[in-house]
Amino acid sequence: MALVPTAELVAGAVRRGGAVAAVNVVTLEHAEAICAAAEAAGIGVILQISENAVRYHGGRLEPIAAAGAAVARLAAVPVSLHLDHVTDDTLVARAAEARFSSVMYDAGALPHGENLARTARAARVAHANGLWIEAELGHVGGKPDAPRSAHAAGVRTDPGEAEEYVSRTGVNALAVAVGSRHAMTARTALLDTGLIGRLRDRLDVPLVLHGSSGVPDDQLRAAAEAGIRKVNVGTALGVAMTRSVRAVLAGDETLVDPRTYLAAAREAMSGTVGQLLSVLP
Ligand code: G3H
Ligand code: ZN
Repeated sequence: MALVPTAELVAGAVRRGGAVAAVNVVTLEHAEAICAAAEAAGIGVILQISENAVRYHGGRLEPIAAAGAAVARLAAVPVSLHLDHVTDDTLVARAAEARFSSVMYDAGALPHGENLARTARAARVAHANGLWIEAELGHVGGKPDAPRSAHAAGVRTDPGEAEEYVSRTGVNALAVAVGSRHAMTARTALLDTGLIGRLRDRLDVPLVLHGSSGVPDDQLRAAAEAGIRKVNVGTALGVAMTRSVRAVLAGDETLVDPRTYLAAAREAMSGTVGQLLSVLP
């Protein structure tokens, strides 16, 4: 009932000058936790499943996608399904059939020319399948022999290079390197909000922040105010889930019913998402 296209949620964020949360789903409990938090806040959310999560599920795209789509459909708020960090081109072609409305194509580790060519091709395939596509300009600074992920430490997106990349690839959104990094378990990232503003002024596509688990609340809000329209969070749920499971198991060595600790973990993840939603404009 409430499964909507990602493009719709991002367009809403653009209209209100805010940002939509895009939260990683690894298990059914993640999807339930994220949707419960979104319902409690009365705010739409993006469920994103990464290629790595698909790999974790034996390389099968459909079961975890079907679970996410089913939870989304039953939610009382708009929820979309996004396929994240795709490097396998065949997944782009299969995404729409698995009920995704968007993909993030990740050629960020490839040399610049190859990134451009492969992303442009992925964008054509995505659009032919009715999908919204996000991508990342990996290498920055004109050294095509030394590609680096846009989310490696210290990397920053150059506005001119980004403008050319968007126009040559035809993507609908751009993941930008502005100070965050993937997989941070401490919230110590320092974002360059001035650069976010310059990128927003230069580009006519929405900006996406990856690695948002490491970004403190006040900076997440400032990033959205400066022009970030989609905020990707994953690791923070892993932290909440694992901490909770550890605590429950440590408290009772006789416990064998997984529902006991998974329910606590689901609630902990929901709390993390609720906090994120309360911060984003
Ligand atoms: O695409 C997913 C996000 O970039 C997640 O990053 O796990 O560091 O929050 P994170
Ligand atoms: Zn990411």
